[in-house]
Amino acid sequence: MSEAVAPLLFDPTDPAVALDPYSTYARLREAHPVWRSPASGIWFITRHADTHAAWRDKRLGSDFSHRYTAEEFVNPEDLQPWRDERYADFKAFERWDMIALEPPDHTKLRRLVTAAFTPRSIEAQREPASTLINARINEARERGSLDLVRDLAEPLSLTIICDLIGVPAADRMRILELSHDVVSMYEPVPSDATKNRANEAVKEFTRYTADLIAERRKRPADDLLTGLIDATVEGDRLSDEQVISTVMVLLMAGHEASVNAAANGVAAFGQHPDEWQALRSGAAPAKSAVEEILRWDPPLQFFQRWVLDEGFEVQGVEIPRGSKVGLMIGSSNRDPRKYADPDAFRIARGETSHLSFGGGIHFCLGAPLARLELELLFDALAKVLPSIDLLPGAVRRPGFQFRGFVNLPIGAPRVS
Ligand code: HEM
Repeated sequence: MSEAVAPLLFDPTDPAVALDPYSTYARLREAHPVWRSPASGIWFITRHADTHAAWRDKRLGSDFSHRYTAEEFVNPEDLQPWRDERYADFKAFERWDMIALEPPDHTKLRRLVTAAFTPRSIEAQREPASTLINARINEARERGSLDLVRDLAEPLSLTIICDLIGVPAADRMRILELSHDVVSMYEPVPSDATKNRANEAVKEFTRYTADLIAERRKRPADDLLTGLIDATVEGDRLSDEQVISTVMVLLMAGHEASVNAAANGVAAFGQHPDEWQALRSGAAPAKSAVEEILRWDPPLQFFQRWVLDEGFEVQGVEIPRGSKVGLMIGSSNRDPRKYADPDAFRIARGETSHLSFGGGIHFCLGAPLARLELELLFDALAKVLPSIDLLPGAVRRPGFQFRGFVNLPIGAPRVS
């Protein structure tokens, strides 16, 4: 099969596609297992088996600088971003951003973070998370209104990750704003204004985190930040730059996707009242519902990789070294080759084979925490809401990579 050239098949910058990407994916996936976007140059991989394999393929990497200089690797006409000093702060952050690293740096950093981010520390969040959810639900009941994002999902994920790391309560709303600005850099085609805002946000975030580390060095606490400062694996410790980037990554990854997943799930139930009743009756447990929510409408739609070696092929299409590929989670999760009736939202499926947490060496480090938060949230909502009533005023997040809602008003639980 030859490379696809139809330029209008898929435009991730089109707001209509961001609003409903799934019908576009279906057309793209059937016609092109791999499709090169003329706008971004990204080769999008659309089918489950190919995306699953690509995540584990050693010829692909999140970075290339462990093997090549930019001059050796990137087309001369595409070199400008590597020479551009306007985004130097962002580059400094990415130098030790785990998601953007490859072995051996990635292996070392991930082991040290895993040592501090233990299953016990996650399980310890169960009670505080439940307490917070119930308190927020009670407030909504008394107030008579509930914005799922602002009143519940955001406070939940932000509080849990900030408590785990040790970020003071007063600073959290600013962290939320900075985080939104930083992650907008990961859209497929960010504008200069977006990139500038992201770089400024990284600058402030870095200063903030450095101060927090200095503070914790003086007064250690029982938190992940102190754990990261102290963590050792075979005598290795994290440098300050590594701790700063890691804390920033955890603070952003620790709420962005979880909040969007919660909102996408509530919206899905609003459109599928029978499934809500299945959850309420216990016909399907919240654990299984969470997996279907993640499959059906994933909060992260794609991730990018570099092709590091010649010979990387998808369904007979060779993708040249130096190219970027887009691993399409949203499209792969709806692939009829993998899932029967893939567009149907069925919480009893209990399928954990979706690609929403990625795969290979970068598989989501926070997946157990995200699953715990979502399970507790849906369990609690199922107890108090006889139906999910979607109210006017819902606002989808702009952009394509992060799929979720800015606001999602729903009917509040009634005073009994
Ligand atoms: C529903 C919620 C979440 C989803 C869908 C999600 C999804 C993902 C995906 C797809 C990746 C792989 C990125 C890649 O391959 O380039 C990833 C990596 C990662 N996630 Fe999550 N995530 C979620 C929640 C969380 C939470 C709560 C945390 C932190 C507490 C977290 C921390 C991380 C970290 C640190 C990585 C990088 C791992 C590595 O590079 O080795 N995530 N996540």
